[in-house]
Amino acid sequence: MGKFVIENNGALQGNVKISGSKNAVLPIIAATLLTDEKCEINDVPALTDVMIMQEIIEDLGGTTSWLQDETLNIEATNINKIQVSYELCTKMRASFLVAGPLLARMGEVKISLPGGCAIGSRPVDLHLKGLAALGAEISQEHGYIHARAKKLTGANIYLDFPSVGATENIMMAAVMAEGQTIIQNCAVEPEIVDLSNFLTSMGSVIRGSGTDTIRITGVEKLHGTNHTIIPDRIEAGTFMIASAITKGNLFLENVVIDHLKPAIAKLREAGVEIEEGEAGMRVKGASERQPIDIKTLPYPGFPTDMQAQFLSMLAVTPGTNLVTETVFENRFMHVPELIRMGADIKIDSRSAVIEGVEQLTGTQVKASDLRAGAALMLAALSANGTTEIHDIYHIDRGYYHFDKKLRNLGAKITRVD
Ligand code: EPZ
Repeated sequence: MGKFVIENNGALQGNVKISGSKNAVLPIIAATLLTDEKCEINDVPALTDVMIMQEIIEDLGGTTSWLQDETLNIEATNINKIQVSYELCTKMRASFLVAGPLLARMGEVKISLPGGCAIGSRPVDLHLKGLAALGAEISQEHGYIHARAKKLTGANIYLDFPSVGATENIMMAAVMAEGQTIIQNCAVEPEIVDLSNFLTSMGSVIRGSGTDTIRITGVEKLHGTNHTIIPDRIEAGTFMIASAITKGNLFLENVVIDHLKPAIAKLREAGVEIEEGEAGMRVKGASERQPIDIKTLPYPGFPTDMQAQFLSMLAVTPGTNLVTETVFENRFMHVPELIRMGADIKIDSRSAVIEGVEQLTGTQVKASDLRAGAALMLAALSANGTTEIHDIYHIDRGYYHFDKKLRNLGAKITRVD
């Protein structure tokens, strides 16, 4: 299952280039199903999750190929299936994002309900509400969702929660529906805007992306395109913490400062020095940090995907820190592992009270999900002694060359497969 062996090697120094966003590229690969023409996508990180999405496109009859490092070519010319394989569906929850585009392309889709996930139940009721509103007949049998629609017709859809995935699935189903679709209380994350830009470059007519109301006017056909993925704001936030927790000095290239406002604000509140510039952002870990409170919320609030990483830093930030996780019901699995490293943390349902300690100590720990795994790596960088992190396949799902990038910054990390 693979492990990382990490020694505390002091402050990280140097430059790191942030890769393309995992949570932007996954829906965009699904969106290539909407055209029979070639799509070329740049700044694609060769992550496990990206490769699973490639397998899904190929399983449906499409072809994918890497033109060069980080440029992916996708041709969904001959899509000849409407059922996504169970094995692939259970590997990754984001596989559900092919439901909307496949329904729009083929008029039918059969897809397994996503498996449970470590961080919460993660239902898809809002996805299905949107597809039904557009005219799909939806039945659920033997763990599969079966949706059919001879024709999709624009509708007014209100999302009870600004779900990222539901917004994306509905957008992709609506771009060739007849008439206008209005999605209210939709997600406003940067990844929604990147998907919208991709769909627009294919010929879609979309207005309001990035606001809580998106308006789509359906078109007959979409064509191929060439698109560059936005930088991964969550990877950037992870390296910001890497600098803060090791009291280092890192320069992050390929970042969109505007996407990082909550992380920048909270790190500055904690006393970390951040210089914003045209070419990137410098993050200097402060010798003395102040305790802070964090509450995760949908964008533009503090991102739930950065909660675990920040919590590792707060574990060694003097004083009493409070973290409240409002988006997922079970996203503190990194906490028991941090406690094994000597952290002083008490959980009370969706809140964690963290009393900062002087230093954590190295031991064996286990990654339970992607961001928890990253959080443990960050904790290990500043812990006293050696830390072994097991089940690192979780980390490989969402971080491109993470250990290599950290090694280039002075970290002492060995990958043991
Ligand atoms: C996306 O997941 C991201 N994944 C997640 O990142 C991220 O944590 C999440 O958005 C929130 O920002 C990708 O983009 C591939 P949601 P998604 O639908 O779309 C509830 C990572 O670490 N909900 O916004 O699944 C749900 O249970 C991953 O990179 C419903 O109730 O998130 C959750 O509590 C983890 N019904 C909340 O909404 C629905 O139909 C947020 O879920 C859909 C969601």
